[in-house]
Amino acid sequence: MTSPTHDHAPVPMTSAPVSKLNGIITVPGDKSISHRSLILGTVADGQTKITGLLEADDVMATAKAMQALGANIRKVSDTWLVDGIGNGALLAPSAPLDFGNAGTGSRLTMGLVAGYDFPVTFIGDASLSSRPMGRVLNPLRESGVQVESAGEEDRDLLPLTVHGAPLPIPMTYRVPVASAQVKSAVLLAGLNIAGTTTVIEPIMTRDHTEKMLAGFGANISIKTDEDGTRHISLVGQGDLQAQDITVPADPSSASFAIVAGLIVEGSDITINNVMLNPTRTGLFDTLLEMGADLTIANRRNSGGEEIGNIRVRHSKLKGVTVPASRAPSMIDEYPVLAVAAAFAEGETHMLGLHELRVKECDRLTVTVEGLKANGVTCTEGQEDLLVIGGAVKGGGHVATHLDHRIAMAFLVMGTAAENPVSVDDTFMINTSFREFAPLMSELGAKLT
Ligand code: S3P
Repeated sequence: MTSPTHDHAPVPMTSAPVSKLNGIITVPGDKSISHRSLILGTVADGQTKITGLLEADDVMATAKAMQALGANIRKVSDTWLVDGIGNGALLAPSAPLDFGNAGTGSRLTMGLVAGYDFPVTFIGDASLSSRPMGRVLNPLRESGVQVESAGEEDRDLLPLTVHGAPLPIPMTYRVPVASAQVKSAVLLAGLNIAGTTTVIEPIMTRDHTEKMLAGFGANISIKTDEDGTRHISLVGQGDLQAQDITVPADPSSASFAIVAGLIVEGSDITINNVMLNPTRTGLFDTLLEMGADLTIANRRNSGGEEIGNIRVRHSKLKGVTVPASRAPSMIDEYPVLAVAAAFAEGETHMLGLHELRVKECDRLTVTVEGLKANGVTCTEGQEDLLVIGGAVKGGGHVATHLDHRIAMAFLVMGTAAENPVSVDDTFMINTSFREFAPLMSELGAKLT
């Protein structure tokens, strides 16, 4: 079984400087919520109806995986229907689950199947096959999961097979890295384990899994210590009820147009219906500190999340220090923040970036290489990045290493640099934001 992200022909693209960006756009649905809607819909009783689902490769890989585990998933008009099979009722898939490039889909599904006494094999593309899975498998092993891997050196790399225990044991797990994927995998495993599974989260990460589990009727409770440590407890083997879900627009996708609007002179753009969950909005806080003319109108609630319309106008940004404590709320936004920082006056120092090294590529090194290729002065530390802002020469060719966000960030750079910026491959943008090039072009970007 292959996925479109395996062995594709590269699709290079160049972004040329433009005089202004203008317009009102809507970006597609949030990737994190889309994965979770399909997963929870699968183990709920009844039919879950999802509108605004992100129809990108990563999420479609999760949809296929959920079908292989027994759900009936289809799109009727603009609504995705998931006929759930009920909690505890997953079927053993007859073939490996191919997650392509999708870290979230694969890791959450490893958790989902960990409470089942059958083997599930996970495969993915070259990027996913080099990403650490031990962070998810180690806690799952505490419940009795056996892992078989072909890898000789690191046994926790894809391809691998997860086999839950006949009588899995509930876990109490203190998450050692700030990772919503690890938290979510453990909680999803707990769904089919008798007893109470508890995740202790010292540093809060995106909270979609716990909010949505509660929305589906799971027996879940959260206690927060004075120091902010969260104890999330789930009583396993309860029933989940199908839900109607409206997926809000993805703030991580919105961030590319937002930064482009800030760095291109004369720009004025609005992105509608963007999710404003505070565990996701660290980039917006940072841009405001940098002096961005960024305003949010029509804040309202939609399906349990706050959303709003974000308007940005070209701004003279200044460098700031971005504290390590903010990293979890903007973990996917550092490549595009680095681009904003390159155009800002003075130094921007980003701290606490160790997790960037295990994303779709080593995003810290690859961002630095892209900045340097375009004449930006910057210094890469083990866990930090210092960018000296000013005029950006551009003219560079950026190697994207199968990373959609690297491709989009440097195409954004090209809109305002002195010379066009090229990226070696835009194919991976399909994993999260197929509409990126058409929407940016609609605003006035020159992408060829
Ligand atoms: C995600 C969590 C984050 C993020 C990823 C989506 C999620 O990963 O980078 O794009 O939906 O849970 P980590 O949990 O590894 O930080």
